[in-house]
Amino acid sequence: MSVMPAPARGLLGDTAARDYSEKLRRFNAFAAPELREAIASLGLEPGMRVLDAGCGTGEALAWLGDEVGAMGTVVGMDLALAHVVAASHAGDALQADLSAPPFMGEAFDAIWSVNVVNHLRSPLDGIRTLAGLLRPGGRMALGQSSFLPDMCFAWDARLERVVNEAVRAYYRDKYAVDERGLSAVRANVGLLREAGFQHVTAHTFAIDRISPVDADAERYIAETLFRDSWGARLAPYLGADDYEALMDLCDPASPRFALARPDFHFLQTFTLVTGRTPV
Ligand SMILES: C[S@@+](CC[C@H](N)C(=O)[O-])C[C@H]1O[C@@H](n2cnc3c(N)ncnc32)[C@H](O)[C@@H]1O
Repeated sequence: MSVMPAPARGLLGDTAARDYSEKLRRFNAFAAPELREAIASLGLEPGMRVLDAGCGTGEALAWLGDEVGAMGTVVGMDLALAHVVAASHAGDALQADLSAPPFMGEAFDAIWSVNVVNHLRSPLDGIRTLAGLLRPGGRMALGQSSFLPDMCFAWDARLERVVNEAVRAYYRDKYAVDERGLSAVRANVGLLREAGFQHVTAHTFAIDRISPVDADAERYIAETLFRDSWGARLAPYLGADDYEALMDLCDPASPRFALARPDFHFLQTFTLVTGRTPV
């Protein structure tokens, strides 16, 4: 595995040196049942060659491998060295920028790419480049989980609204990404069509979790969302009372901790958009 020169930062700050492995592991453990259901819905066949473009820590490599069997091939590709190192423990993975992939044209029967194209400065260019790696009639599967501002929690609706607005303001300030840039869940149909894909389909999987949540859901919701994505980051964007109310709901030591409430219901979505290259 060779170390790449650091490319320009992606839209959401990705570089070859960036490492958010722990966050990726938590999401994949949390959403594993729905992600596996999405993979099963693709109808992959034994012997197929599949690329996981932007494979992150590689959890999907084994899931895809289960579909294509021992005669098939699954390869992961990711920009971030730390992610590739983690993915290498799960399967074959290499470090590469998907805008300059180290594969021959028509090398794959299918490409799986989850939560990746929204990180690119030009998702359309990225999709077109990946399309060139598919055989005629090959399948592109773009997955996108809903973003923080679109997630639902069964608590105070007003607090939910002001928190969502605070998250949008945070993204705007940190990444210069506005509301339009956060609409990737709905953008992938148009992008695949614009890139020349045919037979485009879309299906959204609901990820519902209610109390008592299991350990994977607790880790993802309490650590990735409550602590790392909200937490002190949102303090500048909320009134003092709202911030205090939110922190109280997010604090595992608080009697009002959201995950311990009998009415706790968290809903996130995972949208899978697929298309085929022309034959
Ligand atoms: C949100 S993560 C998703 C990872 C994985 N697909 C998953 O679902 O857990 C986005 C991934 O895309 C990778 N990435 C971003 N820009 C990339 C590029 N230009 N080429 C290849 N990978 C890229 C990041 O390093 C990161 O691992």
